[in-house]
Amino acid sequence: MTAPASLAERERLAAAGALDVERLRASFPILDQEVHGHSLVYLDNAASSQRPEAVIEAVSDCYRTYYANAHRGVHALSERSTDEYEAARGKVARFVGAGKDSEIVFTRGTTESLNLVAQSYARPRLLPGDEVLLTEMEHHSNIVPWQLVCEQTGARVRAAPITDGGDLDLAAMAGLIGERTRVVAVAHVSNALGTVNDVAAVARLVRDRSDAAVVVDGAQAVPHMQVDVSALGCDFYAFSGHKMYGPGGIGALWGRGELLASMPPYHGGGAMITRVTFERTEYTVPPHRFEAGTPSIAPAIGLGVAVEFLESLGLERIERHEQALLSHSLEQLNDLPWVQVLGQPPGGESPRAAVLSLVIDGAHPHDAATILDEQGIAIRAGHHCAQPLMERLGVPATVRASFGMYNTHEEVDRLISGLHEVRRIFG
Ligand code: ALA
Repeated sequence: MTAPASLAERERLAAAGALDVERLRASFPILDQEVHGHSLVYLDNAASSQRPEAVIEAVSDCYRTYYANAHRGVHALSERSTDEYEAARGKVARFVGAGKDSEIVFTRGTTESLNLVAQSYARPRLLPGDEVLLTEMEHHSNIVPWQLVCEQTGARVRAAPITDGGDLDLAAMAGLIGERTRVVAVAHVSNALGTVNDVAAVARLVRDRSDAAVVVDGAQAVPHMQVDVSALGCDFYAFSGHKMYGPGGIGALWGRGELLASMPPYHGGGAMITRVTFERTEYTVPPHRFEAGTPSIAPAIGLGVAVEFLESLGLERIERHEQALLSHSLEQLNDLPWVQVLGQPPGGESPRAAVLSLVIDGAHPHDAATILDEQGIAIRAGHHCAQPLMERLGVPATVRASFGMYNTHEEVDRLISGLHEVRRIFG
């Protein structure tokens, strides 16, 4: 977090020790390459991070040596696949502090997790006039599923405002929570600004004013900081494998056990039933109730290995390293009057993950991205699937640099040089 607020926070991060980043980089084969004649600087981690050898090897080993369908056979390969798949669930459960492994539903990613909550939790409960409260900084995946369910039920979406500095306006949010509020859905970390929302404070606000469910989009938090769902006090927490150094096509939803048990499935098929006749179907218990069809077995196993990889390094050490990268970036960006860093509160007093949304005088973000790419620097340009946020900030798009555990201070310097080149061409 930028300029960590308290002494206790500074001491916590200092005690975490330093990452051996050079050694760490050697675990990520994809980083060791040239792009347009320059060594790759990968700063698009908020879109997708890269995978360490251990994850690639785990997926490959599954397909090479023991893959078979899970939960469907008594033969040795199927038993092994089932065991590894369920062991991965246990690792993911531990990673986010779930009380029980069965509170983890494997999905295709955060988007599917949020759609699952919208359709299975919210749809049966929402009545015309009910409200789903979001925030102005949400990713489309935490907006569109709620719009769909509101169209289906007659409920309506509202959005809590943010400040000009990119923080959630908690006082204004409190005023929007009332007896018609059935769901409050909020990003833990903004994918576009890096704002770290105080989810525990949001949950307390909600509990004091309503019996709404608190749903958290944790996609941008889990690779960067320790997450404990019970400490957050939320009801659902959604995240993706591909942003936390795991495979694509796999993600998870944590849900409170009693809520999951009360929810109908939102898609149907094999493996989620106890009995099927043409007249009716009885559904099995969570999490399998929500995992119709053959699951993504090898990706789930790879996700379990990504969890172990993160845990072996320590989330506090990762956070400390990324915060140092953020500080190093901001120090230099503050000297560039032609670059505006969006969503950074004056004085840096509230926490930010290592994501920078930049507006460069005279250069369209896509042109800037092309110039940076020519120098081997991968960033994302655009609205970052957060069009309402862009509208709130009064920009059509930004240049976004998003850091991961393997980025270095030298790569920050390469980014700054790249921005100077953009300025030279367009300024
Ligand atoms: N959600 C991803 C991003 O922010 C795709 O880039």
